[in-house]
Amino acid sequence: MQIATTVAEAKHITRAWKREGQTIGLVPTMGYLHEGHASLIERARRENDRVVVSVFLNPIQFAPTEDLDRYPRDFDRDCKLCEEIGADLVFHPDPAEMYHDPHAYVNIDLLSDTMDGAARPIHFKGVCTVVSKLFNITQPDNAYFGQKDAQQLAIVKKFVEDLNFDVKVNGCPIVREPDGLAKSSRNTYLSPEERAAAPVLFRAVQRGREIIAPNMKASELEAQMKAVLAEEPLADTEYVTAVDALTMQPVETIDRNVLVAMAVRIGTTRLIDNFSYELPRA
Ligand code: PAJ
Repeated sequence: MQIATTVAEAKHITRAWKREGQTIGLVPTMGYLHEGHASLIERARRENDRVVVSVFLNPIQFAPTEDLDRYPRDFDRDCKLCEEIGADLVFHPDPAEMYHDPHAYVNIDLLSDTMDGAARPIHFKGVCTVVSKLFNITQPDNAYFGQKDAQQLAIVKKFVEDLNFDVKVNGCPIVREPDGLAKSSRNTYLSPEERAAAPVLFRAVQRGREIIAPNMKASELEAQMKAVLAEEPLADTEYVTAVDALTMQPVETIDRNVLVAMAVRIGTTRLIDNFSYELPRA
């Protein structure tokens, strides 16, 4: 497995593979890899000749008040995991290698004004910019993103289509702990007491899945899920929202395919979870 820290090296390696007609799968990550990331890398391994994992803690998708400084890192462990799964290249640039002021941005106003985009105004601009750069640097045929960050996945699919990037964006299921908590690098922030409280997000997802039905009022669905979250004293709900699966805009009635997503603070840690619902065909 090779490790590239400069854009030039990563381009050189991936361009050589392309010239040989090999397919490339890219898994963008911010590191501190867990089984959720591993599931994406394993799928990329199965579906491509070459697998690139980017490990880059992207500073421009964090607001100054957010957790960039304390975000967990362990690059050696990340490399071991990538090597075990059979990745061919880990791309691990410094922020200075990726950005110099002033820098152009890729932005998407559509889909990013609700939920996480509303709570984190610069977040998706930072994500779209870094993902565009990674696509241009590594020229993947396939890219893999988790449903865990469902709004991010929808946004990446939209800008790839709108800006004619030549890459297939593949969504992968949420990997969970045995008690239902979605795996996340941020779970390491939780104290033992908070960790015990955190599966309440999954219980709210399960309640939502049980009760959702065609033509149900979204407010009723959201209220019942919020009631589950309210049973946990350590949980502070930021939002629970049903949105159109494609536009990410809130719906009043479950009359189309929807994403039902939530963000909840457990202590100072912000956790997200969601489920997708496809309207049964009449
Ligand atoms: P990061 O949070 O490291 O996640 C990298 C990828 O792993 C994302 O596509 C995310 O949805 C996926 N992932 C995380 N936890 C998962 C889980 N429990 N199950 C399945 N997939 C999971 O998301 C980012 O980094 C960044 O925004 C990035 C796209 C790399 C741009 O900087």
